[in-house]
Amino acid sequence: MTEWENKIKNKSATVGVLGLGYVGLPLVREFASAGLKVLGFDIDEKKIKKLNSGRSIIKHIPDSQVKKMVQTGRFTATANMARLKKVDAILVCVPTPLTENREPDMQFIRSSSETIAKYLQPGQLIVFESTTYPGTTRELVAPILESSGLKAGRDFHLAYSPEREDPGNKNFTTKTIPKVVGGLTVKCCDIASRLYGLAIEKIVPVSSLEVAEATKIVENIYRCINIAMVNELKMVFEKMGIDIWEVIAAASTKPFGFSAFYPGPGLGGHCIPIDPFYLTWKARQYGMPTRFIELAGEINTNMPHYVITKTMEALNEHKKSLKGSKVLVLGLAYKKDIDDLRESPSIELIELLSEKGAKVDYNDPYIPRTHRQRKHDLQMTGKKLSEKMLAGYDVVLIATDHSDYDYQWIVKNASLVVDTRNATADVRRGRKKIVKA
Ligand SMILES: NC(=O)c1ccc[n+]([C@@H]2O[C@H](COP(=O)([O-])OP(=O)(O)OC[C@H]3O[C@@H](n4cnc5c(N)ncnc54)[C@H](O)[C@@H]3O)[C@@H](O)[C@H]2O)c1
Repeated sequence: MTEWENKIKNKSATVGVLGLGYVGLPLVREFASAGLKVLGFDIDEKKIKKLNSGRSIIKHIPDSQVKKMVQTGRFTATANMARLKKVDAILVCVPTPLTENREPDMQFIRSSSETIAKYLQPGQLIVFESTTYPGTTRELVAPILESSGLKAGRDFHLAYSPEREDPGNKNFTTKTIPKVVGGLTVKCCDIASRLYGLAIEKIVPVSSLEVAEATKIVENIYRCINIAMVNELKMVFEKMGIDIWEVIAAASTKPFGFSAFYPGPGLGGHCIPIDPFYLTWKARQYGMPTRFIELAGEINTNMPHYVITKTMEALNEHKKSLKGSKVLVLGLAYKKDIDDLRESPSIELIELLSEKGAKVDYNDPYIPRTHRQRKHDLQMTGKKLSEKMLAGYDVVLIATDHSDYDYQWIVKNASLVVDTRNATADVRRGRKKIVKA
């Protein structure tokens, strides 16, 4: 039996997770609860301190779980990268954003690869999980790691396994979402698959790094394009007096050949608005256009403007102009029941409303105040909801359909509601005040 086989069999492998964010922390949890020792690495000292004191950094992982992992000695977080030497596997979950010019921003992949190269040990398994274009692991990561003098596939193992985390999804966890794994060599794929198999229920090995990278990109492009399609249909059907949400609910009764996607105020999150453009960029190297992606991007990025127009029209019906009106935006997170506001359309809505002279406030039960984003810094503090405060706004704009909101109560107390999520579908009284957008 090889050393690796032994470590997997005895669950004695120590797993390093580099990048302790929305993806890294759930991964830590799965390996720790499978009985492995996990060392978490991050450059953010504040995060390290918080985690080591047993506090969580994301809403859907409770403090109690972090505390348990820390107290049982299964998990320690550190910013001391030299400790990378001590782990058997390093799973990398660093951000992959876009630059100002909407091109892949590889700085985190590059810097984490450089860090690993510095401490790389023979026999270690390195797996990248960050979403990226096909070719990243072989063309960008491997040469940086090999600058250590060790050869990938011979002296250390290299694999790619895309993270499919869906924060806030109550039906699936990291453990129950099948994990696609591609290796530089058959052996790399085998070792990575067996390691993940200790913590995750179903492993899907594929033939190469590139197939694994492309799988994740395809999943996100699929969502991005389908969301664009329903967004476009929403605008068309609105002119025809047809409710898109009712149509989608009816179409969803077809037991085959139809998957429901829902319109909204625009795309948000770290994945769907960004990842498709990783492929667009790479495809250009092959002289290939990605017209579906570009078109979907165009439609989706136009949605906040559509919502603003609908809001102006709704105010107009009340003999009011947007300029000078008081607007309450409900929900800052990019989707319901989470605390993540990265790329959230709510931010753009707030900016567009403010540009047009509206006085804007927001409420979000999970985001008490805004923090600095890649492109934005709203510097706002959320307002507490009350009957009196709701009545004080000219319009309440529902941007995120958090489950905690009592929509009947909101409609009752607001004078006008613009609903971008069909959150008020079950509201019976006061429907005349609701405008869908
Ligand atoms: N958030 C999601 O729902 C989701 C889902 C699937 C895939 N992904 C992908 O997973 C990757 C990570 O996303 P995330 O949402 O967890 O990001 P995140 O910003 O929540 O976490 C990333 C962490 O990496 C740390 N980091 C950055 N550079 C580092 C370095 N050189 N060394 C060590 N740590 C470093 C940051 O401090 C941060 O804590 C991205 O590629 C993303 O596209 C995200």
